[in-house]
Amino acid sequence: MSLKHRPRRLRRSATIRDLVQETQLTADDFVYPVFVHEGNASEDIKAMPGQKRHSLKDLAATIKEASKLGVKSFAIFPAIPESKKDSMATESTNPNGLVPKTIEAIKSIDNELCVITDVAMDPFSSDGHDGIVKEGQIINDETLEVLAAMALTQADAGADFVAPSDMMDGRVKYIRKKLDKADCSHVGIISYTAKYASAYYGPFREALDSAPKFGDKKTYQMNPANRREAIFEAKLDFHEGADVMMVKPALAYLDIISELKRRFPIPVACYNVSGEYSMIKAAAKAGLIDEDKVILETLMGMKRAGADMIFTYHAVEAAKLLRATT
Ligand code: PBG
Repeated sequence: MSLKHRPRRLRRSATIRDLVQETQLTADDFVYPVFVHEGNASEDIKAMPGQKRHSLKDLAATIKEASKLGVKSFAIFPAIPESKKDSMATESTNPNGLVPKTIEAIKSIDNELCVITDVAMDPFSSDGHDGIVKEGQIINDETLEVLAAMALTQADAGADFVAPSDMMDGRVKYIRKKLDKADCSHVGIISYTAKYASAYYGPFREALDSAPKFGDKKTYQMNPANRREAIFEAKLDFHEGADVMMVKPALAYLDIISELKRRFPIPVACYNVSGEYSMIKAAAKAGLIDEDKVILETLMGMKRAGADMIFTYHAVEAAKLLRATT
């Protein structure tokens, strides 16, 4: 039969398939989120098989292994003991606290490594919320000062990017101003622009013991049903001075990644969150899927949707897999 178009012609051999492949996934797309704690020994995180709460001592080995494989960007998440938490997240601005120490530890391995810090009160807050709580409400405007002070502490310690994940209104502008005033105009802001109130964060909250002590996060994180609202959030962040905008979670929000990529001229990040990671681990353990292939297909989907960078707990194993297949 004569057919003008036969798409299968471009799938005939691996060489041809590679030649016409539209999207390439590489280790330098990845940001590896690492958990740290003050203890002397690392602890396995039960809800996230393969991930650890690192002691500062053990962290170096993880960072070196990752960077050898081409993963050179890291996002830091601290597990803070309950005794250091209070309602104002005071520990988050301690210049000798766990986060500044971790930044310095990573930078001392290689100053070229990119360090990204999370800006939100929850790991440091006795209420487990991302903002200041007053009479059961999360107070927006007073929280901004805490977030900006936290961001400045991280910038002073050498962070390349601060990444506000709190979803308070106006925080990008507030943080940008504070950083610029303090001679930190070189420090960038990766804004969690469209962060949804998601059940996929469950394992992460176990890892940090940071679940809200009451209620939920729906008065600040977005409703998973909304797309236009994400575009609105993105407009605000863009005009407030975000360098990168993030969509989180990733897998159930690929349409949002595409929208932001199409509409805005700055890089788009996505966060392949803890629940997405742990689902693959659980399915693989149960013998239900080919883990390696599912990991790469999942990350490729995020890249194809438009993500310029992918925060993922799979970063190291995916980098190994990419080495093996190329
Ligand atoms: C805290 C924060 C959360 C995550 C990153 N920063 C949890 C939350 O908002 O409750 C989730 C990451 C993950 O699930 O992997 N502001």
